[in-house]
Amino acid sequence: GEDRMLRWSVLVLCLLLPCSAQQHLEEAKRIMETTPVIDGHNDLPWQLLKRFNNQLGLPEANLTQLTGTHTNIPKLNTGHVGGQFWSAYVPCETQNKDAVKRTLEQIDVVHRMCELYPETFACVVNSTGIEEAFRNKKVASLIGVEGGHSIDSSLGVLRTFYHLGVRYMTLTHSCNTPWADNWLVDTAEESPVHHGLSSFGKTVVEEMNRLGMMVDLAHVSVDTMKMVLNISKAPVIFSHSSAYSLCPHRRNVPDDVLRMVASKEGLVMVNFYNQYVTCSDKANLSNVADHMDHVKKVAGSQSVGFGGDYDGVTGVPTGLEDVSTYPALVAELLRRNWTEQEVKAALADNLLRVFRKVEEMSLQGTAPHEEPIAFKELAGACRTSYGYSDTSGAGPAPLLPAALLLALPLLSTLLS
Ligand SMILES: *[C@@H]1O[C@H](CO)[C@@H](O)[C@H](O)[C@H]1NC(C)=O
Ligand SMILES: *[C@@H]1O[C@H](CO)[C@@H](O)[C@H](O)[C@H]1NC(C)=O
Ligand SMILES: *[C@@H]1O[C@H](CO)[C@@H](O)[C@H](O)[C@H]1NC(C)=O
Ligand SMILES: *[C@@H]1O[C@H](CO)[C@@H](O)[C@H](O)[C@H]1NC(C)=O
Ligand SMILES: *[C@@H]1O[C@H](CO)[C@@H](O)[C@H](O)[C@H]1NC(C)=O
Ligand SMILES: [Zn+2]
Repeated sequence: GEDRMLRWSVLVLCLLLPCSAQQHLEEAKRIMETTPVIDGHNDLPWQLLKRFNNQLGLPEANLTQLTGTHTNIPKLNTGHVGGQFWSAYVPCETQNKDAVKRTLEQIDVVHRMCELYPETFACVVNSTGIEEAFRNKKVASLIGVEGGHSIDSSLGVLRTFYHLGVRYMTLTHSCNTPWADNWLVDTAEESPVHHGLSSFGKTVVEEMNRLGMMVDLAHVSVDTMKMVLNISKAPVIFSHSSAYSLCPHRRNVPDDVLRMVASKEGLVMVNFYNQYVTCSDKANLSNVADHMDHVKKVAGSQSVGFGGDYDGVTGVPTGLEDVSTYPALVAELLRRNWTEQEVKAALADNLLRVFRKVEEMSLQGTAPHEEPIAFKELAGACRTSYGYSDTSGAGPAPLLPAALLLALPLLSTLLS
């Protein structure tokens, strides 16, 4: 009798544990059949530039068998990815150089991706389009511009990006723009310049609200986060940031900001990058779930999302190796007793709610903001000044030696 009991218990124990893990995974996949994940940030377009100079027709660039990346078409399908904000990212090095041109090229490569693989991708520009793509089992493909340097301080460029389908802009990447401070000012690496946004920076946010383009606060300084949360009429997102109180990296979101996000009905899409998850080279799926739990605890389940940062980072957690692994993370949330409704909120419903609100609050049809940035707030030796009457204190000047600077007016009088 006792022997039999023992054998039974062992059998039950051995079966139950893996069995329940398997059940969570099955449950995750069942949920994701109808509510697939909408991820906030994926850098595949940057990989396409680096690897193939954006030549999608090269045999080795075929997305059905692309290797060496976190993202390809089979992995997206296995991962139940139903929506992706593809990043139109260009490095800060392009600021005041060819940022606008290169950003346009990254937007173009996303458009061409949708055209080349219509069975997989549907480029969409609104919340209705995402829902339609869900029904058609396509990856709703949207574009986020990562870094305000991409607009070169121009509201005209911002509006043009909107027309091309851009639906969020991260206000900075890892550099200040002439109108907003980035996260590095919260480290010893850079000094604050605007203490958040300049007056033109506030106009950029107002214009994004007017257009119905989401404001993304990943990569900005804490002052910028707070100022934007204070002035933005529509909810804002963090497209790929984790929780500062679990890993005190300045790319992450502190708890007081998490509470502001909640009160504004915004969204923090948790980043999987090892350095932001554990502040070290090593992380695992469970550590990422801790961040999701934390955002849920502090800001509520209506403020949590997924922002993997795949193909934008080198070290991703064990168990979250590529875009095929989202169901495993969802299974872990289920194991942690997240309800189906909470899981669906994080997967897609929160983003859809924010996006709808941003669309509803947009003021399409009202007059666009027209006042340009002051010429003196710009930098860059290649810049012309057409349209500006007051070009005093213009950017290029400080680059010239002082003596030459003093001699310049004299020289021009002599020449005229
Ligand atoms: C990619 O490869 C697949 C399988 O070999 C092929 O059917 C498809 O036409 C290719 N697509 C493109 C866009 O090259
Ligand atoms: C959403 O976008 C589609 C194009 O993808 C467009 O046809 C449709 O009118 C848009 N819907 C709304 C409500 O703006
Ligand atoms: C938010 O706005 C209010 C009212 O305009 C202002 O008093 C407050 O200082 C602002 N807070 C931040 C953090 O910008
Ligand atoms: C994940 O890493 C933590 C340490 O940060 C460790 O305690 C935990 O056991 C790991 N979990 C798994 C599933 O490997
Ligand atoms: C989930 O809920 C069950 C039943 O209430 C409980 O026994 C278990 O400890 C909970 N698990 C976690 C990870 O909180
Ligand atoms: Zn980033």
